[in-house]
Amino acid sequence: VDDQLNTLLKESELTEENTRLRYLTCSLIEDIAAAYFPDCIVRPFGSSVNTFGKLGCDLDMFLDLDEIGKLSTHKSSGNFLMEFQVKNVPSERIATQKILSVIGECLDHFGPGCVSVQKILNARCPLVRFSHQPSGFQCDLTTNNRIALKSSELLYIYGALDSRVRALVFSIRCWARAHSLTSSIPGAWITNFSLTMMVIFFLQRRSPPILPTLDLLKTLAGREQNKPDSSPLHIQNPFETSLNISKNVSQSQLQKFIELARESAWILQQEDQDRPSSSSNQPWGLAALLLPSLAKNKSPTKNKKESFSSERIKNLLESIKSNRTENHTDTNGKRTISTQT
Ligand code: UTP
Ligand code: MG
Repeated sequence: VDDQLNTLLKESELTEENTRLRYLTCSLIEDIAAAYFPDCIVRPFGSSVNTFGKLGCDLDMFLDLDEIGKLSTHKSSGNFLMEFQVKNVPSERIATQKILSVIGECLDHFGPGCVSVQKILNARCPLVRFSHQPSGFQCDLTTNNRIALKSSELLYIYGALDSRVRALVFSIRCWARAHSLTSSIPGAWITNFSLTMMVIFFLQRRSPPILPTLDLLKTLAGREQNKPDSSPLHIQNPFETSLNISKNVSQSQLQKFIELARESAWILQQEDQDRPSSSSNQPWGLAALLLPSLAKNKSPTKNKKESFSSERIKNLLESIKSNRTENHTDTNGKRTISTQT
């Protein structure tokens, strides 16, 4: 039965491509929403990202307006700073309804590939539901329900703590679907989210518990905040565990490190699929990673710097050729290396 649970999980879980398509769809909707709210962010949440998503599950999106103004790249026009303002609304709920209403209108009239747009503004959590034809996703767009993002993070953590958790949740979800206990149409039936919560509760109650309770996690996270040393990167000194050996690293350096690691992994991944021919002079593998300009040049988003960078690579290759290293054997039979500069 364990094997069956795992097979079912592998067969029905979201693939990496499908997950990427979900992020892409969010960014397309973000572009549309940006017409009204420059610098807004549309984030996926729910089963698209909490690792409990089944192929074909809906795409829950959160229109995040709180980041507006935090970014340094304000959309400015001359000396005027462009910022949106919610005016004269008696409550946050009404503001949410108004925001979703204009976005719904915009998606309906101008959203490429967005069809069957429904504004469900009187629900407990107001939303705009639509079908995104190019990706095939059924989308629910909400705003002002940050708590749902938090519960997605919590489920992600629970899913990662023990490999049996996701397998059990998937099987219970599939079982419920097979017997019409759940449905893709909203109604009087139990939801996948509720079923997941029940499974998590069950696993918290085992003896010994398979999952920690939220209260226990909270106690542990308190401990983190009380740490006197809170820096962007914390690497514990194995011999003096109270010391952070990367205390000096700033947030911007950490970000740079993460971006470069991601770019380098991407370059290697591309080469795996499309290995440069041995006759071409293109640097590959480690050599490609060691060229400082390459990481940017090979990024998936082509930019204007591309031709400039390829020119730089050509020049660099020429300079490597002219700095050619010569190997020869001296009279004593010893191998020596001399470098022409
Ligand atoms: P969904 O109902 O879409 O559930 O709510 P789901 O987890 O994505 O599962 P499927 O695959 O679509 O059936 C999306 C998210 O909204 C939050 C949860 O984070 C959930 O994952 N939510 C939903 C709540 O916080 N409370 C609720 O009552 C319902
Ligand atoms: Mg969902």
